[in-house]
Amino acid sequence: MLRGGRLSTDPGRSPKIPPVDQRGTFGDVVEAPSADAVRAGAAVYRPWTLRLYDVWVHGVSNAIAWRCPTRALLDAYDRNVSARHLDVGVGSGFFLSQCRFPVAEPRVTLVDLNPASLAFTSARIRRYRPTVHQANVFELTTLPEAPFDSIALMYLLHCLPGTLATKSRLFERLGKLLAPEGVLFGATILGRGVERSLPARVLMRVYNAKGIFSNADDTLADLEAGLRRAFVEVRVSLHGMVAVFEARQPRATHALS
Ligand SMILES: C[S@@+](CC[C@H](N)C(=O)[O-])C[C@H]1O[C@@H](n2cnc3c(N)ncnc32)[C@H](O)[C@@H]1O
Repeated sequence: MLRGGRLSTDPGRSPKIPPVDQRGTFGDVVEAPSADAVRAGAAVYRPWTLRLYDVWVHGVSNAIAWRCPTRALLDAYDRNVSARHLDVGVGSGFFLSQCRFPVAEPRVTLVDLNPASLAFTSARIRRYRPTVHQANVFELTTLPEAPFDSIALMYLLHCLPGTLATKSRLFERLGKLLAPEGVLFGATILGRGVERSLPARVLMRVYNAKGIFSNADDTLADLEAGLRRAFVEVRVSLHGMVAVFEARQPRATHALS
């Protein structure tokens, strides 16, 4: 399911998350997550939660729970964002509105399952006149704006159901949307093998129980393995519970299949 264009959704109304295709194959061999689980990972982003998102996530939670300076995430944008940028899982558009693009008029494409996130972000960065596509990243097959010089998956992976073995199949598929010199970058909150503060343990339990996060078993090793399967050059750094990644030179470069 893919719909593109300038978004006309009223940012003040509740989001209508469209039906997600039922369970099927994803990647070569991995079973796609269930439709309900996919929808749960996007459903919490409503017009009113998006207004609180920056303060709660990038103000309070990063500092107190995940122990990752928001500056480290903004630096990843400033280092990698390009004149032909695709952002998947846009939320409130905080980083897109704050980061430094290398040109005054970048071509920005937004993909999200939730129309409220798309409406909020496209209004916030209207100066870039972004193109929007409402789509489930697991079903993303092609985009008319491809190839991109940068693709961001910022704080998306921990919202997606499944293990990192499943979720990391996205890297191979998205790599096919990159230009040869392009970069895929982002960050994700890990669930295992990292030190967890008390606030982090509480938030992780609540979010995983509600399906807002599905990261209880996500490890740095699985993230790195998934990235290395899809890309030749991989850099990952750990900030508290958050892994920040950058990957270049996709191993498969033909159109998405
Ligand atoms: C935690 S927010 C990240 C926001 C932003 N990138 C940031 O770093 O502040 C996750 C976003 O991913 C979207 N999302 C969740 N599951 C998705 C899916 N399966 N396909 C596409 N977008 C999804 C949600 O609707 C939400 O806008």
